[in-house]
Amino acid sequence: MKESIHRIPSNINFKLNNKIILITGATDGIGKALAKKTAKLGAKIILHGRNKKKLELLSDDIAADKECQKPSIALLDFEIADLNSYIKLSEDIHDNFNRLDGLVHCAGILGDKTPIEQYKPEVWQKVLHVNLTAPFVLTQALFGVLKLSDSPSVIFTSSNVSKIAKPFWGAYGVSKFGIEALSQMLSHENDHIKMRVNTINPGAVNTKMRLQAYPAEDRDHLKNPEDILHPYLYFLSDESIGSNYMSLDAQY
Ligand SMILES: NC(=O)c1ccc[n+]([C@@H]2O[C@H](COP(=O)([O-])OP(=O)(O)OC[C@H]3O[C@@H](n4cnc5c(N)ncnc54)[C@H](OP(=O)(O)O)[C@@H]3O)[C@@H](O)[C@H]2O)c1
Repeated sequence: MKESIHRIPSNINFKLNNKIILITGATDGIGKALAKKTAKLGAKIILHGRNKKKLELLSDDIAADKECQKPSIALLDFEIADLNSYIKLSEDIHDNFNRLDGLVHCAGILGDKTPIEQYKPEVWQKVLHVNLTAPFVLTQALFGVLKLSDSPSVIFTSSNVSKIAKPFWGAYGVSKFGIEALSQMLSHENDHIKMRVNTINPGAVNTKMRLQAYPAEDRDHLKNPEDILHPYLYFLSDESIGSNYMSLDAQY
């Protein structure tokens, strides 16, 4: 079901005190802005990324704010990580926090913008793996710790090309169609338990992925990552308890 940001009241003061939240792709763009904001709202963040240096710098940066708890780090390159690494992450979260309240999937790559006729199979495979298979494996591995939370929330990040196929978007577009399907399946399969699963399409946002997709565009009119966080905060907070199966556009 397509929903609009306007359905979420804009005047909520979100509280995330002591929620344990893992954000993938936290080292840049939307994930990074979300990590900073959620830490500021009281959450204990687990920063996921593939670059140790970037993760450590971000963790230190957030911890420098006395109002924030120092984030933990989950180093996992989705391109090459094996199943044991995902299971080890789940065990670490269990040992350190005994639950996971929020899982936000932000990590992703664009791949090539090329006609299908010329799309390189090795790029196709990489994009599908990072954007779709890795979120599936991670969510599955973390299911046990999510179910230990009183109100677990899983958020997937989709795209403008995730419901109507646009030419030249190749594996990226297909991966985002897959994310919508994965999110819908997961939410319906688990609607008998307290877990909520929702998807957010951020729309056009001024990040390095957007620059890669539209190198010649005027970037002044674009929203910055900090401007589109409202639906993420909503689905992470207890304000959204009972909100399930939603696929929401952050900018319309
Ligand atoms: N920006 C937009 O206009 C827009 C529009 C629609 C949807 N989205 C979606 O929003 C999400 C965030 O995008 P963004 O624009 O914030 O992109 P971004 O700035 O390029 O950030 C992508 C993040 O994913 C991480 N990542 C990439 N490959 C990885 C791998 N193999 N293993 C682990 N982490 C990896 C990056 O790590 P590094 O820091 O190491 O590169 C970075 O933290 C994506 O799912 C994207 O599809 C974005």
